[in-house]
Amino acid sequence: MDERLTIDLAAPEATLELGRRIGSMLKGGEFLALAGPLGAGKTLLMRGVAAGLGVNPREPVVSPTFVLVREYAGRVRLLHADAYRLGSIEELRQLGLEEQLSAGAVVAIEWADRFPDFAPESAVWVALESAAGARRATVRGPSAALAALSGADGAGGASAAGGRL
Ligand SMILES: Nc1ncnc2c1ncn2[C@@H]1O[C@H](COP(=O)(O)OP(=O)(O)OP(=O)(O)O)[C@@H](O)[C@H]1O
Ligand SMILES: [Mg+2]
Repeated sequence: MDERLTIDLAAPEATLELGRRIGSMLKGGEFLALAGPLGAGKTLLMRGVAAGLGVNPREPVVSPTFVLVREYAGRVRLLHADAYRLGSIEELRQLGLEEQLSAGAVVAIEWADRFPDFAPESAVWVALESAAGARRATVRGPSAALAALSGADGAGGASAAGGRL
C-alpha cells in the first residue's frame, strides 16, 4: 500500500539531508521518481541521495539534462536520468534503465512526471514544490520504503503529519 509523507524543507541543506536519508535506505533495485518544476531542488536532492549511497563526495552530482543519464558508483550503482528533454516514453525506454534496475542499480529520474507510466508500481515518488522561498517535498511510495524515512530514529525527520527535517 502506498503512503504519503509531507516534509517541509526550510533551506537547501534540508533538501540535501532528505536526499541523504533516502539514499541511505536504498538497497539497490529501487526506482526514484522526482517531480517538481524548474529549480525545485531535484538535482540537489540527488546530490544527497548520492551521498547517502556512499558515492565519493568529490564526485560532482550535476544535472543530467544534456547527457540524459549519469552513473555513479556507490554501495550500489546509481543511474541518474533526466526526462526533461525527452519527447516520448519510447526515448526514455531506450536509455536502458529498466535493465539497469533489474540488474540491481538504483534508478532516479528527474521530471519523471512527464512520463508517469514509465515508473514501476514500486517507485518512490518525491514531488518538490516551492513554498515561500523554501521547498516542500511530498514523498509517496510503498509503506515499507517510507517507514525508514518516517521512522522514530531520532533524526528529527519527517512525519506523516507533515514533519520538518
Ligand atoms: N529547501 C530549499 N529551500 C530553498 N532553496 C532550495 C531548497 N532546496 C533547493 N533549493 C535551491 O533551488 C535551486 C535549484 O535546485 P536544483 O538545481 O536542484 O533544482 P532542479 O529541480 O534540479 O532544477 P531543474 O528543473 O532545472 O533540473 C538551488 O539554488 C537550490 O539551492
Ligand atoms: Mg535538475
